[in-house]
Amino acid sequence: MKAALELHSLSKAYRRSDGRSHPVLDGVSLTVGEGEFVSLVGPSGSGKTTLFRLIGGVEKPDAGRIAIGDREVTGERGHISYMPQQPALFPWLTVTGNIAAALETGGMDRKMARKAGLEWLRRIGLEGVAEEYPHVLSGGMQQRVSFLRALLMPRNVMCLDEPFAALDALTRADMQRWLLQLWEAERRSVLFVTHSIEEALTLSDRIYVLSAAPAKVVKEIVVPFDRPRRPDVWLAPAFVELKKEVLDLLGQGDGSNAV
Ligand SMILES: Nc1ncnc2c1ncn2[C@@H]1O[C@H](COP(=O)(O)OP(=O)(O)OP(=O)(O)O)[C@@H](O)[C@H]1O
Ligand SMILES: [Mg+2]
Repeated sequence: MKAALELHSLSKAYRRSDGRSHPVLDGVSLTVGEGEFVSLVGPSGSGKTTLFRLIGGVEKPDAGRIAIGDREVTGERGHISYMPQQPALFPWLTVTGNIAAALETGGMDRKMARKAGLEWLRRIGLEGVAEEYPHVLSGGMQQRVSFLRALLMPRNVMCLDEPFAALDALTRADMQRWLLQLWEAERRSVLFVTHSIEEALTLSDRIYVLSAAPAKVVKEIVVPFDRPRRPDVWLAPAFVELKKEVLDLLGQGDGSNAV
């Protein structure tokens, strides 16, 4: 499979207020193939958001390289679409306006972009709020619009940083099913951060497990379930086994499967 994103031995340390260096990433290497869904799981503070900041070019690594497709882009901005934990829609634009803005970034003219945006909203069942401003939408609806916007940005790689963390459990389960369907139809290259092992196993083709900071990749797991994936995949015995393995790697299991 051709690589959409390659990280080679990325290291990063921050300087704390007392002047001491605080290493966050320690030689992280990973790849996301074209059209592949890859998740990162790791303890809080292990540097996952930092990794996205490096990929997005907001900060530079101390060492290592980042490539998108065949091109080295270390320190450059504008190559990924990014979806943060809290919905970040433009509050001064309507829902359609927000979606159209993503399409206009790709060079579509405004009228076409609005038409195509409306078509997309219809497809995801949100045409009823097309002319509303984002603040009147529920958290789940805002995240759907936010995901759609990231999907429609003309970028090769989507980086999603715990997009469902702020949602209640039922809405989150709904969102996972929704995202799975839409992604399986559209197949973008995705790097997805989550604290939920079930979420990572339900959605991903592969999972990288990170250690506590300074983060290293401790394990790469290939998720074996066929696609289109059944929403009740979590009932499969292999699912429970893999979940146990990841929990052990994160130091949260009962130790019986420790490596
Ligand atoms: N700009 C910064 N300056 C100094 N330290 C920082 C900065 N940004 C992040 N850090 C530190 O780097 C470490 C990793 O932070 P990061 O936000 O990448 O973790 P994370 O894995 O995303 O955590 P979480 O799962 O809680 O979101 C933390 O200790 C954090 O305090
Ligand atoms: Mg984070």
